[in-house]
Amino acid sequence: MKKLTLSAIALSITLASAAHAAPEVIKFSHVVAENTPKGQMALHFRDLVAERIGDKYEVEVYPNSQLFGDGKEMEALLLGDVQFIAPSLSKFSKYTKKLQVFDLPFLFEDMEAVDRFQQSDAGQSLLQSVKGKGMIGLGYLHNGLKQLSASEPLRVPSDASGKKFRIMSSDVLAAQFDAVDAVPLKKPFSEVFTLLQTRAIDGQENTWSNIYSKKFFEVQPYITASNHGVLDYMVTTSAEFWTQLPDADREVLKKALDESVAYGNQIAQQKADDDRQKIIDSGRSQILTLTDKERGEWVEAMQPVWQQFEDEIGADLIQAAVQANQ
Ligand code: SIN
Repeated sequence: MKKLTLSAIALSITLASAAHAAPEVIKFSHVVAENTPKGQMALHFRDLVAERIGDKYEVEVYPNSQLFGDGKEMEALLLGDVQFIAPSLSKFSKYTKKLQVFDLPFLFEDMEAVDRFQQSDAGQSLLQSVKGKGMIGLGYLHNGLKQLSASEPLRVPSDASGKKFRIMSSDVLAAQFDAVDAVPLKKPFSEVFTLLQTRAIDGQENTWSNIYSKKFFEVQPYITASNHGVLDYMVTTSAEFWTQLPDADREVLKKALDESVAYGNQIAQQKADDDRQKIIDSGRSQILTLTDKERGEWVEAMQPVWQQFEDEIGADLIQAAVQANQ
């Protein structure tokens, strides 16, 4: 009788502590500000998880390279120090060459074309391109088209000649600036503002939301509305973390993530338009609109980069992306 009572007590203590077990922390690390499509998407995901499965999981979001910056976040994911990241597609070249297709200059006419390509069979298969490397791509998230900012007006390619531009860690982006005789420098996102402010570099390429939220426009008097490339993301988790989750939990988390990505994609264009307008209203930076002839010169100078990377990326993949423009 005494033995039975003790076992009952032990059981009820176990049940009580299980009921009050702290939720498992899932870390989502990224490098941009909270008032961006990625920042908002991550917060949306945190809230949906809290609402739907908050007794078991708690998402902690670390923006602004607070936890891990460029170069470190993928390693951290593979080491299990963080469970979700959403790096720019330009930052995966150490793990796959295929995603370089997104960096080819003047490939996509607009974000609708980018979206069509991402949703196509070819685009969806690219989400698997890092699978053998311990990562799983769970979806594409938009930021938008890139613009060129600089300390001097850039209207034609020769204006960029000899100037130093910060780029993300992509050989295609390096070749793109080489093609106009500029000097590309691979630097982490967290260093860009200081590099621009101190005039250590002359310019950079980025989206309206990054240029606005990171205040690049305050230290770059000219922005050429070039729309010359895309800056989107792959929301990524580690295979080790994702596969050990109970099936039912993984399903809830995936649904919450899909909805959050859809939310981020839905607000991205409006965010770009609003941030562009805020930059204009600030009067700190002049936005230059290219004539068709000027734009044509940039296209002509940069397009040979496609040929340069065709073997690494694959002609079929490039063709599939071109077709998304129709
Ligand atoms: C990001 O949007 O995640 C950063 C982009 C950059 O490194 O320029």
